[in-house]
Amino acid sequence: MNWLSHFSRIAWAASLVAVTADAEDFQGSTQELPYDQEVIFYSKAVARDPVAQLQKKIDSGEVKMKWDEQFGWLPALLDALQVPKSSQMLVFSKTSLQRRLISPHNPRSLFYNDDVYLGYIPGAPVMEVSAVDPKLGGIFYKIAQEKTDLPKLERDTDCLSCHGGPKTIGVPGHFLRSVITDRHGEIESQGDLGTVTHCTPMAERWGGWYVTGSHGGQMHRGNLFGDNTLEEAKLRPEEFGNLTDLSRFFDTSKYFGQGSDIVALMVLEHQAHMHNYITRLNYETQMMLSMYQHIRYLKHQEDAFLRYLLFKEEAPLSEAVAGNPEFVAAFVARGPRDAKGRSLRDFDLHTRLFKYPCSYLIYSEAFDHLPGVMRDRLLQRLYDILTGKDDDQQFALKEADRRAVLEILRETKANLPGYWKNGGTVAN
Ligand code: HEC
Repeated sequence: MNWLSHFSRIAWAASLVAVTADAEDFQGSTQELPYDQEVIFYSKAVARDPVAQLQKKIDSGEVKMKWDEQFGWLPALLDALQVPKSSQMLVFSKTSLQRRLISPHNPRSLFYNDDVYLGYIPGAPVMEVSAVDPKLGGIFYKIAQEKTDLPKLERDTDCLSCHGGPKTIGVPGHFLRSVITDRHGEIESQGDLGTVTHCTPMAERWGGWYVTGSHGGQMHRGNLFGDNTLEEAKLRPEEFGNLTDLSRFFDTSKYFGQGSDIVALMVLEHQAHMHNYITRLNYETQMMLSMYQHIRYLKHQEDAFLRYLLFKEEAPLSEAVAGNPEFVAAFVARGPRDAKGRSLRDFDLHTRLFKYPCSYLIYSEAFDHLPGVMRDRLLQRLYDILTGKDDDQQFALKEADRRAVLEILRETKANLPGYWKNGGTVAN
């Protein structure tokens, strides 16, 4: 009982009471957790995310980073961290750290894989990088765009002013926003449409972003700024939607990748929030265990987590979506697959994002590093949902879906408890 400072403990406990009383979940609960205090000690803790590991290899000489005259450290970082070039997305709203440099004429490019995110703005003095640490959640780094023999990715906790508060459900994490901007990329008053997850309807997504790829007649807020309003886009949809080329907006040769891929955006919107959920559940479990030695009060958080994991509240697609086939190929290739060739990374893109409704981040180190009691509990509950033993409607999946997810996980997820393999029956 001696761990959190008195006030933060009261604040946190109060938020928890509110959460439990209103049957709220993480999606509603954005209370910042006291993550820099006892139990978590976020800023002091040594990170071992992929970027921290890369820095060690740069320091020891095991990895040599090649400077690029046009893009600085971007190509070498993508290469060393195995981030696909095809994941490029472009954001022109002045919503992030180096806002002065960002505009519809000079958007910020973002690239990512399962556990690393990179930001590159043409002409910017630094690149912003974030990574997922299996225990600590999002870790943030800056790297100066200067030619040197030993580049340094330096951890920066200032990033938490945006990446460690309400927008990232109260933990150090990742997020995307949708905003209405003027022609300079400045947010219009009342132009904040909120953070975007897989639950956000397409009509509300991508304000402040460029979007390339096809989506039929579905409207979105991408590629619009200044006087180009959603009404205008409805009148002339071919000018603002289903684009393959952005060169009428800005000089595309300043960018390392191509376009701002619609599928990459949709995957990121699922992923960023899933990462935050895992981190939040991890922290809350540690804090609960420290305070009460049990996790019984986290039932609502588990429910919310499982619903998000199973895409229960995903906004449906009304028409097919298609993006850069290279992105899809790189994403799908990361596997794993079961004997029938199925993978949680397989796309649907007709009525929903993925073919099988269970997040591939269940394979992530962060999921496996949830405190043991929580990990065990989630796996038990997931098993009960997938076998039909738990028929609570909030988790209800189509029978074929739950059967497929169960079978895929059985074959592909390492270290599942024994009952996953043995218990054979799936209730109808
Ligand atoms: C002023 C608020 C703000 C600060 C400070 C900030 N960011 Fe961000 N960051 C954002 C926003 C908003 C986004 C979503 C994309 C966008 O609007 O540009 C974002 C997105 C990112 C992304 C893409 C992945 C994601 O989280 O969606 C990375 C990487 C990133 N930021 C790194 C950093 C790093 C590293 C720092 C500190 C050196 C930092 N940011 C500081 C606001 C901020």
